[in-house]
Amino acid sequence: MEIVRDVAGVRAAIAEARAAASSPLRVGLVPTMGAFHGGHLSLIRAARTSCDLVVVWLFVNPTQFNDAADLTGYPRDEARDAELATAAGADLLFAPEVAEVYPDGYATTITVSGVADVLEGSHRPGHFAGVATVVAKMLNMVQPDVAFFGAKDAQQVAVVRRMITDLNLAVVVEVCPTVREPDGLAMSSRNVRLDPDQRRRATALSRALSAAKAAVDQGERSATSLTAIIDAVLAADGLTAEYIAVVDPSTFAPIDELDGPALVALAVPVGPVRLIDNLEVAP
Ligand code: PAF
Repeated sequence: MEIVRDVAGVRAAIAEARAAASSPLRVGLVPTMGAFHGGHLSLIRAARTSCDLVVVWLFVNPTQFNDAADLTGYPRDEARDAELATAAGADLLFAPEVAEVYPDGYATTITVSGVADVLEGSHRPGHFAGVATVVAKMLNMVQPDVAFFGAKDAQQVAVVRRMITDLNLAVVVEVCPTVREPDGLAMSSRNVRLDPDQRRRATALSRALSAAKAAVDQGERSATSLTAIIDAVLAADGLTAEYIAVVDPSTFAPIDELDGPALVALAVPVGPVRLIDNLEVAP
């Protein structure tokens, strides 16, 4: 696997691969901020299965962090990531420096409204503008046919889809399922910052979502009741949610009474980190 640091380099590598191919090359892009875990590797493997050339983007994007301590503490280990990406089947690791992505004088931001204004958007001001901007930039730099995102960041997927539609970008989004630890905790680069007690209590997120799903399966339709069920599971482990929401899976509009598929999403501070998770439910 080749490691590339600049836009000219990634474009040249992709152009060379396209020129050498006997039929149209399907290029897959896996956007990441590194610190790879099973979720990232599942995206790379999915790209490997359906694409001819797999480009992994590795960039800890400063503009999407609304909390300076979260940016400073964000785990980084490029050498390990490069080994894991190679083993998972990546062809190119595109790991630009901050100045390559945001050169001096950089002055453009993409703001998505509506779907980006609620939940993560309202609790992390500026977060989705940072995400939309860097995703638009990487799509423009790499010009992939398909981009692979994880379902754990369901609102990010909805924001990126909105932006791609609105800006007429020629890329297909493929969403891969959330990868979980055996005890249900959704894999996240931030999990390594949990101490053993926090790590044990963090399983309350997935247990709470499963309890909500079980309630829906047994006929519960009220978002207020589902929220109360989740609250109780979290409280038993001493956790309080930043938000618990029952929303339309594509627009993120709130749902009061379920009459079709809904996304139950939550954000919960656990010790030094803030964890998010979600589950689709359907009556
Ligand atoms: O999901 C992530 O890791 C990031 O938000 C992304 C899409 C790579 C943009 O920085």
